[in-house]
Amino acid sequence: MELKIFNSYSSLSAAAAAMMIDCIKNNPDAVLCLATGDTPKLTYQLAIETIRKENIDISHCFFIGLDEWIGIPPENSGSCHYYLNQYFFTPAGIMPEQIHLFDALTKDETEECNNMNRIISTKGGIDFMLVGVGMNGHIGLNEPGASINALAHVAPLEEMTKTTGMKYFDEPVLIEKGITIGLKQVMEARTLVMMANGKKKSAIIKQSLENEISTGLPASLIRRHSNAFLM
Ligand code: PGA
Repeated sequence: MELKIFNSYSSLSAAAAAMMIDCIKNNPDAVLCLATGDTPKLTYQLAIETIRKENIDISHCFFIGLDEWIGIPPENSGSCHYYLNQYFFTPAGIMPEQIHLFDALTKDETEECNNMNRIISTKGGIDFMLVGVGMNGHIGLNEPGASINALAHVAPLEEMTKTTGMKYFDEPVLIEKGITIGLKQVMEARTLVMMANGKKKSAIIKQSLENEISTGLPASLIRRHSNAFLM
């Protein structure tokens, strides 16, 4: 893992966007797994600007959503569906057949996870994964204690995730469970970029860098990844 430190949110975002663009330029068929949240918003905006300016062909890329809130419909502006459409897929002109997102309304959570696992393996794995860090050190919705061997799965959310998660919603909603790409798939991504921004994340980042590497603190696992960037 390489640690990259930036003095502003804009320089952090520009660097992450450049890495995303490099990945696509080097591999036009790239499979990208993208996070939602406040942190990567500017990264997506800057990536779209470059795609337009340089007329980069992204029509052969495939995009996977990292996670979703179980029970939240895609038209809810707090859902990961809504976010990825609004901030990346629609402005970047990505076609529906280039996208696979978890269905938060699924009647069969096991099949929903199996389907995601099948798609990832059929596509040959994830080339580029962009994730944030939760206030509790989660990656995606792999909460503290998630298994290192986990593929896509549904898991209960910690109180901190439920409380912090409310910032994404216009009206209070009940979020109890998340569906997420598993830590095994995170660790197998060919390039893993983890971004954190703002003073509020400093304590969890310090712990992730200095504490024992453990699934009790999922973000610490990035130190075991041979092509990861903590930015
Ligand atoms: P944030 O979320 O980017 O909104 O801080 C990060 C996360 O919970 O993974």
